[in-house]
Amino acid sequence: MIRTVPVSVEDHRASAQRRLPRFLFDYIDGGAGAEQTLAANAAAWSQVRLRQRVLVDVGGVDTSTSLLGEPCAQPLLLAPVGLAGMMARRGEVQAVRAANAARVPFTLSTVGLCGLDEVAAAASAPFWFQLYWLRDRGIVQALLDRAHAAGCKTLVFTVDLPLAGMRLRDLRNGMAGAGLRPKLLKAAQLLARPGWLWDVAVRGGPLRLGSLETHVPTARDLDAFRSFIDAQFDPTVTFADLAWLRARWPGTLVLKGILDADDARSAVAAGADALVVSNHGGRQLDGAVATAARLPAIVAAVGDRSTVLVDGGVRSGVDVFRALALGARGVMIGRPWVFALAAAGERGLGALLAHWRRELATTMALAGVTRIDAIGAQHLDHD
Ligand SMILES: Cc1cc2nc3c(=O)[nH]c(=O)nc-3n(C[C@H](O)[C@H](O)[C@H](O)COP(=O)(O)O)c2cc1C
Repeated sequence: MIRTVPVSVEDHRASAQRRLPRFLFDYIDGGAGAEQTLAANAAAWSQVRLRQRVLVDVGGVDTSTSLLGEPCAQPLLLAPVGLAGMMARRGEVQAVRAANAARVPFTLSTVGLCGLDEVAAAASAPFWFQLYWLRDRGIVQALLDRAHAAGCKTLVFTVDLPLAGMRLRDLRNGMAGAGLRPKLLKAAQLLARPGWLWDVAVRGGPLRLGSLETHVPTARDLDAFRSFIDAQFDPTVTFADLAWLRARWPGTLVLKGILDADDARSAVAAGADALVVSNHGGRQLDGAVATAARLPAIVAAVGDRSTVLVDGGVRSGVDVFRALALGARGVMIGRPWVFALAAAGERGLGALLAHWRRELATTMALAGVTRIDAIGAQHLDHD
């Protein structure tokens, strides 16, 4: 049978679900609590209506732009996703290659499987590094030094995770939680996916957190790394601590996880160069507002002094256009890239990025605009 061509995020998601053990698929797909914020994120974009314009010369549509000084083929970048390397063999390496080929920035999570050095060796352009603040500032300092040495110019400090949200699917499947029962649950789900076991776990090992490996020499498996990280999240960090980070990071500093205009002002005052309006893809505070709904207020508060990016529920090139029309300079995508990677590796992700670029170009043409920096509120339909 000849398979149909995957064109939507839903297509890649369905294929990822067939390949991955259940606890891994649900880890990507799920959110916190009743998953209301997760659902609200995508729904909010679909409510943003666009003006259809006609008989405008749209012969030369150009989706290229630059994000924080880096040239990009489209105003989009790959969001940091922890454990992405579990979804395909040496997953972060495949992802950075696909991102480089598509000319969009890749962001490596603190808790990626492939570490800074492995990703740097595979990359052909600078990538961004995402930082979780750990209690041990010596480790934070070491990560900053290694990121800088690996050629990262942009640091994404994630501020919406003083502790991990309550993700019910992870508890249900044994992805979170300690003891025998979670282990048995995961083992049963693994046996149902021998293809993944062979391809990713056996041929793709070692399954460790590459950037943290030297700091947790005793960790033998991912559960041990998880216990270390859970104990290392520092819930006492405040805006006052940003001065420490600002003084130590010589490059561009982005704060990710801002969802409140007052916090956006505080972030800019503390020296952040850019913000990501984000609720962590609905994985932290269930009940928090959708990012598309809050974006305009944050752009109004700090858009003249800061670069505002957004993520959460962006599922197509049309949504990318909507985000720009609401005032964002670019979008991060999380689940879409990980589903495409899980579905078909570097090739799948490359196909997704090429498709989104075409979708964005088509949307621009039908909205009567040819340049990214000319997209704005005038393209929204308020009637
Ligand atoms: C499986 C998964 C793991 C994530 N891990 C991280 C992480 O390690 N660091 C981080 O800053 N954000 C992380 N995020 C949040 C994403 O960076 C991003 O904010 C979110 O996925 C955007 O929403 P979307 O998935 O609807 O595009 C993760 C998201 C998912 C789905």
